[in-house]
Amino acid sequence: MNTSRRGFLHSLRAGVAAGLIAHRPLPGVARAALFDPVESAHDDGLIHLDRNGNAYGPSRKVIDAIHSSIGSVNRYPLTVCSSLAKRIAALHRVKPEQVLMGCGSTEILRMAAFAFLGRGKQLIQASPTFEAIENYAHAASSEVISVRLTPRFSHDLDGMQARVSPSTTLVYICNPNNPTASLTPRKDLEEFINKLPASTFAVIDEAYHHYAGQYGSFIDHPIDNERVIITRTFSSVYGLAGLRLGYAVAAPNAIQKMREFATEDDVNTVVGQAASAALDDLDGVNESVRRNMDDRQEFFNQAMARALKPIDSHANFVMMNTFHPAEDVIEHLRRNNILIGRSFPAMSTYIRISLGPPDDMRRFWAAWDMLPYPKHTMQH
Ligand SMILES: Cc1ncc(COP(=O)(O)O)c(C=O)c1O
Repeated sequence: MNTSRRGFLHSLRAGVAAGLIAHRPLPGVARAALFDPVESAHDDGLIHLDRNGNAYGPSRKVIDAIHSSIGSVNRYPLTVCSSLAKRIAALHRVKPEQVLMGCGSTEILRMAAFAFLGRGKQLIQASPTFEAIENYAHAASSEVISVRLTPRFSHDLDGMQARVSPSTTLVYICNPNNPTASLTPRKDLEEFINKLPASTFAVIDEAYHHYAGQYGSFIDHPIDNERVIITRTFSSVYGLAGLRLGYAVAAPNAIQKMREFATEDDVNTVVGQAASAALDDLDGVNESVRRNMDDRQEFFNQAMARALKPIDSHANFVMMNTFHPAEDVIEHLRRNNILIGRSFPAMSTYIRISLGPPDDMRRFWAAWDMLPYPKHTMQH
């Protein structure tokens, strides 16, 4: 046992009731064999609970596909990509011309900003939310209107509606929302979208939809609206953040407008093959979702044991109020080699923690328990 592990176990014993920390046994060899074991130690010696990626990485089948793709890395990715686009189209029962892939869904958001925004045009979004599209909107010289989430952390759709004007050409909805992990009901979104003017496009960012059990995705249950653009990523449930792949599903006309701003050959050969394998590996996806549910439940158990009340999470991360400047808590954890999400000015006492494997989460709670604040004030 190394020193840090011994120190960690010591702080665990000194921490909350041992029963709550007890680790569930692995549910079975068949499930475990879908994924390679996770190494808790990271190259930089830090525990990464900061970027909402998939802490367990891709499934074994996807890793095999990555290995076997190596032989084609000297080729441009055209064939791989067109067959992947067809595969994604078939998955969602749309035509291939309704699918646009990008270097991460971040590139899709960039394309949407440049296709639908510009000087004199306006983006409406929530606050706080995932900030990429706002950054690109500014780069496109657009105005950005940010509307606070409701007290229950869903999108304030009435408030957003009230800000819509003739220059509103794009609305961004992140569902579940990053950083709050909260969900806006699909029915409310539909009503909101149906009321938007004919010149307004809506991006629904479903980066975390796999983790939001009851949420009916806009691709799986489409609404008949040519101005709705759904974005997805391979960075979360599929565990491929480092390989960079995302996509949009929308009407051919909207896809065409966005495609004009795509980088040529932006999807690489390796991720093209890895993504196909990931889509085929339903067991891997289910296992990834199940494991996240366990990790999320365990997080809430630990929080409850400390009388904390995080925001209900529908994703692979959790946000909670610390009732202290988030910057200070982030810095305390950083000193303990734990990275969590950055601070969000609109919610300056909240921290966002990406869920990691049990060992990483135990280190998080051990460091949390060393915070120099009176614990009884840390309630919702
Ligand atoms: C809501 C949301 N959308 C999109 C992205 C970007 O994902 P990608 O890795 O596909 O660029 C992220 C990444 O954190 C995100 O949180």
